[in-house]
Amino acid sequence: MKTQVAIIGAGPSGLLLGQLLQRQGIDNVILERRSGDYVLSRIRAGVLEQGMVDLLREAGVDERMDAEGLPHDGVELAFDNRRVRIDLAGLTGGKQVMVYGQTEVTRDLMEAREANGGKTRYEVDQVQPHDLETDRPYVTFVDKHGETHRLDCDYVAGCDGYHGVSRQSIPADRIKEFERVYPFGWLGLLSDTPPVADELIYARHERGFALCSMRSETRSRYYLQVPLEEKVEDWSDERFWEEFKRRVPEDVAAKLITGSSLEKSIAPLRSFVVEPMQYGRLFLVGDAAHIVPPTGAKGLNLAASDVNTLYRLMVKVYREGRTDLIPRYSETCLKRIWKAERFSWWMTSMLHKFSDEEDFGSRMQQAELDYVTGSEAGLTTIAENYVGLPYESLE
Ligand code: APR
Ligand code: PHB
Repeated sequence: MKTQVAIIGAGPSGLLLGQLLQRQGIDNVILERRSGDYVLSRIRAGVLEQGMVDLLREAGVDERMDAEGLPHDGVELAFDNRRVRIDLAGLTGGKQVMVYGQTEVTRDLMEAREANGGKTRYEVDQVQPHDLETDRPYVTFVDKHGETHRLDCDYVAGCDGYHGVSRQSIPADRIKEFERVYPFGWLGLLSDTPPVADELIYARHERGFALCSMRSETRSRYYLQVPLEEKVEDWSDERFWEEFKRRVPEDVAAKLITGSSLEKSIAPLRSFVVEPMQYGRLFLVGDAAHIVPPTGAKGLNLAASDVNTLYRLMVKVYREGRTDLIPRYSETCLKRIWKAERFSWWMTSMLHKFSDEEDFGSRMQQAELDYVTGSEAGLTTIAENYVGLPYESLE
């Protein structure tokens, strides 16, 4: 088998890159370890920045997003039993975010790929890139019948997430990892109940952080900060709702409509970046290269901005022979990534409970929230980061 770009992983990064390249006539094959149904069963984030929305339009997958997605002009912070609205549109010259689940984005991209004949191999095992430092790299894999295949290519896009093989294929002395692990996780609950408010609410509370989010006008997504060692089996729906009501402002708790959960899971919080994001003819994209804690909804959006950079790079390489731009991939991505890492870390630090003893830290959080929400400059800082900083260009 032969292709121009071998893409490892059919998450949002791999599928979006594949679709954009396909539309430019750049041949690509996606290799995915899981089945399509499994990929679609993972419940993930749901807030898209304008830049990602525009990129999805360019990829031709905007129809269902426009019909079913919910554009949001604002977001709320809650603390001390009060709510402060951040007027995203007003503070950023009209920018919005789009509430549309990652699962839906993934489904739309899978359908578009099927419609335009894009090649995806699901349920392949032992995916392994080779000869990345030569100009003839290739990827080997074993299909579900146990047969080994070789895919020759010009470039490899490592879109295989945090646990994927791509980053692990780079010799340890050629990359540096930066990491911060937080001492808590988020317990998420999905339910077919109307959202408690029109906009998302990020709530700080002495008992821990809580978030009110949504997937549609009839489906809600709520989160609770929990200790890392907590087990999801120990959280009945009743216990979740009880705890949730204690952490959000009273008027929110009074309006909350509870119901049985469709899904419940715990995710640890982590900040992680690898530098550089490339090695020979391998490019790391999305979660394969970086992780942010979910406070701020940047994970999926960062994946999209990497895809934007790699896509435009590949078009320049194949159309204009601009191979001189290849070394610029990593630095172009990282400029934006580090700023989103900073925002996600800052929002996490300001809104979560860190320990029982840390009284000084707790007062610092209160003072910071009081300051940023009481100042036009503070509110603007949150707003411009939340809607997404501008995409970096290669030149
Ligand atoms: N071989 C083939 N496929 C693999 C391998 C491997 N060795 N390892 C992982 N994969 C697949 C996974 O099964 C998954 O479908 O790669 C895909 C990676 O997808 P994601 O983890 O979703 O990562 P990405 O596409 O970069 O998406 C960005 O942003 O909101 C966050 O974490 C959220 O998934 C989201 C991410
Ligand atoms: C979600 O809806 O899953 C969600 C929204 C905002 C976040 C994180 C997760 O910051």
